[in-house]
Amino acid sequence: MILIVDFGSQTAHLIGRRMRQLGIENEYVDPEDILDEVKKYNPSGIILSGGPSSVCETNAPEIDKKIFDIGLPILGICYGWQLMARKLGGKVESAHKEYGPKTITYSNNIFDLPKNNYTVFMSHGDSVIKLPQGFKVFGLTPQVKNAAVIDKKRNFLGLQFHPEVDHTQKGLEILRYFAKEFCKEKISNFKLKPDEIIQKIKTEVKNEKVICAVSGGVDSTVAAFLIGKAIGKNLLPIYVDNGFMRPGTTELVKHIFTDLITVDLKIINTQKTFLAALKGVTDSEKKRKIIGKLYIDIFQNEAKKAGGEVSFLGQGTIYSDVIESKGSKKASKIKSHHNVGGLPKNMKLKLIEPVRHYYKDEVRKIGRLLGLPEEIVMQQPFPGPGFAIRVRGEVTPKRLIQVKIADNIVVEEIKAAKLYGKVFQCFAVMTGAFSTAVKGDARAFCEVVAVRAFESKDVMTSQWADIPYKVLQKISSRIVNEVPEVSRVVYDITTKPPATMEWE
Ligand code: XMP
Repeated sequence: MILIVDFGSQTAHLIGRRMRQLGIENEYVDPEDILDEVKKYNPSGIILSGGPSSVCETNAPEIDKKIFDIGLPILGICYGWQLMARKLGGKVESAHKEYGPKTITYSNNIFDLPKNNYTVFMSHGDSVIKLPQGFKVFGLTPQVKNAAVIDKKRNFLGLQFHPEVDHTQKGLEILRYFAKEFCKEKISNFKLKPDEIIQKIKTEVKNEKVICAVSGGVDSTVAAFLIGKAIGKNLLPIYVDNGFMRPGTTELVKHIFTDLITVDLKIINTQKTFLAALKGVTDSEKKRKIIGKLYIDIFQNEAKKAGGEVSFLGQGTIYSDVIESKGSKKASKIKSHHNVGGLPKNMKLKLIEPVRHYYKDEVRKIGRLLGLPEEIVMQQPFPGPGFAIRVRGEVTPKRLIQVKIADNIVVEEIKAAKLYGKVFQCFAVMTGAFSTAVKGDARAFCEVVAVRAFESKDVMTSQWADIPYKVLQKISSRIVNEVPEVSRVVYDITTKPPATMEWE
């Protein structure tokens, strides 16, 4: 097994996922406990994850230097590599900040890869400017000359980029190389096992009832199906129609929970309550917290109505929701996903989240294994707070209508161009910016709408989609003509990192 030292990177958990894919057991440990954990687990190697801190700061997470003397192979990623370099006598400086895709050139085929240029994802503010003794460079980018380094004698590998993210080309091969060649691990194929998840739910829930928050989206549908297979009629799915969802969502939820699984679905219409609660609120984190609390109030109320028989709330939380909401000790909070960081502290219902440790593409695979149709499994994700987080600034009824019309145009045109299944998500955002326009020969000063479309597998990284100009032209023309008081349309061409997928 391999130990992963978690320095709080957004993608630290992905390292474990990749190990799981390679059939290798792994455990996450805190840096301060590393020596004890090595004694406890007797690992074949150690991976030091990235993290949000800078090794140049005084209170940055540390690691005991003795770890480099015990003869185990060590892979340092980003912060992990910088810390390793510093501990072994190298020099790190705040320089060459880089976020997003970069081109790396490998000087020899160390990872059994053909000699070539590859795209790797970076997300760092510091760089190693002097290598420790024994290290040799074998990969460099135009900005970072020590982007990939090796100490063959000690089996140490240092990478400034993130091999664990989907958008780093050949990232899995690099991790496989480390595990196989350095740690001498046996590589095998991992299979997702829904039956094991169902059995775990049975053991936990026993004969109690579970209220399950459903939205028609793939995560909550898969979670509800897993729970339903475990506890049958004790599953009580509830769909909260808050007015922030895409048109047709209510019908979709009804179809799923009557035609695909027969359970008593409850639909709660709360459009006025949600809008009223957001009156005057402009801060995106506040919006998320208010929405998270409203959802929970509704579910707790429903649990009470059921006469105290319900003690669980089922949710379709996935790991990307968890980590962005500060899901590990040293991670930064990026945003409070309504179902994780938006939950109130005094919640009475116990959470049951069967897909919490999985990523979007894995959840889709579990859905398929459960027999869910492709149109459900492959639908575009839509956030729980819905259009409320796609209207920058205050969510007024008027702006809500505008964003819905604009969004519908984006979806219609992307579908007409047969691109809907190719992009991971596409939508419109009321940016909160205003600009001058000439409408019917008169001056207008109104809202700027951004169109966002990108491809991704697991939402941890994404590339903006290469939508043909003709399609963008049609979208833009329709939005400025069909949405009242929109003066301008822009296309968002930012990768994640650094930009998150949603604007709020
Ligand atoms: P970000 O914007 O964090 O989005 O890069 C990653 C994925 O998560 C969705 N998202 C949410 N989903 N509740 C949800 O159910 C939320 O609060 C939330 N915020 C973002 C987003 O649409 C994307 O698929």
